[in-house]
Amino acid sequence: MTTKKPPSPLVPSYISRIQPYIPGKPIEEVERELGLVAIKLASNENPLGPSPKAMEAVVKHVGQSHRYPDAGGYYLREKLAARHNVEMNRLVLGAGSTELIQLLCHTYLGPGLAGLTSEGSFVVFPISVGFTGAEPLLVPLKDYAYDLDALAARLDERVRLLYLANPNNPTGTLFTAAEMDRFLERVPENVLVILDEAYCDYVERPDYSRSLDYVRAGRYLVVLRTFSKIHGLAGLRVGYGIGHRDVIDSINKIRSPFNVSSLAQVAALAALEDAEHVARSVESNRRGLAFLTRELTRLGLKVVPSVTNFLYVETGGEAREDFRALLQMGVIVRPLDFMDMPASLRVTVGTVEENQRVVEAFAKRMAALEPGRQRARA
Ligand SMILES: Cc1ncc(COP(=O)(O)O)c(C=O)c1O
Repeated sequence: MTTKKPPSPLVPSYISRIQPYIPGKPIEEVERELGLVAIKLASNENPLGPSPKAMEAVVKHVGQSHRYPDAGGYYLREKLAARHNVEMNRLVLGAGSTELIQLLCHTYLGPGLAGLTSEGSFVVFPISVGFTGAEPLLVPLKDYAYDLDALAARLDERVRLLYLANPNNPTGTLFTAAEMDRFLERVPENVLVILDEAYCDYVERPDYSRSLDYVRAGRYLVVLRTFSKIHGLAGLRVGYGIGHRDVIDSINKIRSPFNVSSLAQVAALAALEDAEHVARSVESNRRGLAFLTRELTRLGLKVVPSVTNFLYVETGGEAREDFRALLQMGVIVRPLDFMDMPASLRVTVGTVEENQRVVEAFAKRMAALEPGRQRARA
């Protein structure tokens, strides 16, 4: 029997009531438990791995690891600034974009204030709002996407941060640049808008975001990007924010000076030079996404059309049971009950072989269900 530990009196109640973020199950853990070779399609990583150029750079620089990294990340910021046509002082680096989300919450929020986003969006934001003693405000999604009208209507004088992931995780949907333009007209300038574009490189739609134009025009907004997805460097932890100068200056006041390791910086620099790896990753994802969407739909699952490297799948039953059944077959996906989406799984697009294996596992799972449940799911 497990007894619940009483909270420490030294920890403020707004910290002790936080439900910690639950990461995807590590592949080594599953392989150890089941004694089989598993595949992990649970954390939206790049199945092709890091750019070979990034790996070379890490090997070349590892011998300098006794030195502290460049605290300002000069060369990486310089390259990113040139690439995005913004001034260097509009850029800040983070140990992944999640660190920047946390730093933004610590900078702008505190007790009595609020951070606004949607239910069914990236949970690191509401958790990070809670860290500060502020209140996370959540409006429901509409058709698996942000309801921008409902978000605009929910703004009140306590809201200092408004977080939007575009495309959204876990539903894989986007809102267009025109929709964002209209939305921003309804957001007062004293609310900082965080536009998280972790999956932007997978989007192949001409009506998608012009986020950096808002920054160039001086809007009170910050765009977050990461090297964890298309560049395949999730394990090295590097992301960046491009935003209003005041936002960057404020984050820099509380950022730990050596937050991005030297190996992460050199790997990211090299990854930016590897257009071929990016193109290969986009192409592999395009095919895999189409294959999985088609095959999983054919099996009777509800698959939300996605513009990213993952799919939101409604299984029609208790998705945690489906997750467990897939796990027994060595296929790790992400159950979403921890986000109050108990009938849903998130499946990352893998390699050709991994995608085939995931479809076979779902086919076995569906076939093993009693006919009554199969019908209920159809
Ligand atoms: C919307 C979104 N933002 C940020 C991240 C995290 O990125 P990073 O690895 O840069 O912290 C993720 C990762 O799953 C994500 O889905």
